[in-house]
Amino acid sequence: MTKYKIAVIPGDGIGPEVMSAAISVLKAMEDKSSKFGFDFTEYMAGDANKAKTGIAMTEETFAAVKASDACLFAAVGETAKEVIIPLRQRLNLYANIRPAKVYPNVPNVKGQMDMVMVRENTECLYKRIQDGGPDWGVAMRVITRQASERIARYAFELARREGRNRVTCVHKANMMETTCGLFQDSCRKVAAGYSDIGYNEEIVDACAMKMVMFPERFNVVVTTNLFGDILSDLAAGIVGGLGLAPSANIGDKMAVFEPVHGSAPDIAGKGIANPIAQMLSAGMMLDWLGEKQAAKVLEASIVDVLREGKTLTPDLKGNSKTGDVARAVVKQLNDKIF
Ligand code: IPM
Ligand code: MN
Repeated sequence: MTKYKIAVIPGDGIGPEVMSAAISVLKAMEDKSSKFGFDFTEYMAGDANKAKTGIAMTEETFAAVKASDACLFAAVGETAKEVIIPLRQRLNLYANIRPAKVYPNVPNVKGQMDMVMVRENTECLYKRIQDGGPDWGVAMRVITRQASERIARYAFELARREGRNRVTCVHKANMMETTCGLFQDSCRKVAAGYSDIGYNEEIVDACAMKMVMFPERFNVVVTTNLFGDILSDLAAGIVGGLGLAPSANIGDKMAVFEPVHGSAPDIAGKGIANPIAQMLSAGMMLDWLGEKQAAKVLEASIVDVLREGKTLTPDLKGNSKTGDVARAVVKQLNDKIF
């Protein structure tokens, strides 16, 4: 019996609502499993915590996250750059993995898409080296060969592991030769070592157009931090919205799992937020922890709920509540083995 130490950060807005739905599903899995269990510890971080204590995330919280086996994170509001960005950078969670997949009963643009975005998660404009005055601003875009080759290797290894046959490098090397040029060159060098996996390149603007028109052409996409941020929301939109988009921030020893969506203050407190992105993120956590079968079963149970189409939140044109979706997923888990 493995007991995983999970740091839980519900954060702001809809964060606590979708987190409690995901935790209830994980607890139901723990009850059924003879192989694994969880030791959840909740930590406060984000806007509300800053309003209360003056600091968005304490060093104690950071240390506790670092000392856990994994962290499940929901969303924070304005203080994202004081919470999730430092978690990604200080824990060196260099690979931001964002799948975009068509699911049953979810309105989508083209009917076909099964892509994994591999977003570099430690540098680019997210280094936040900037200066400015009342009438000007500059920001430094940092790209290194070391981080670029590391993320390219991650993308090719992921492709191999998941039986995916192509990696697309997305860049703007025609405009930014020192940064994107270096990223492109790093991807080419890594690609040369993977003759079993196809490789192509797209310039980011054309990529955005093609992703909407031909989403089925994209398999694994590797790109720099800011392009990955923008294109992962685009991809989520193509497959039906942020309510179903999970992500993983992965380093060599630690990982933080979070939905792509934010704290959605407009619908907070109403109990209508779609918890599926958070649950799929919990599924990515199970997979990363090594509980592959449990991860598959969780996703399959979510797909069953979607296919059934009876328990959907308003973003999916249903009228169910966040908690109803959690109960429906737990019910689907019951006849499955993991
Ligand atoms: C995301 C978010 C964050 C980002 C924000 C909240 C800083 O948009 O996870 O995609 O830009 O990475
Ligand atoms: Mn984003």
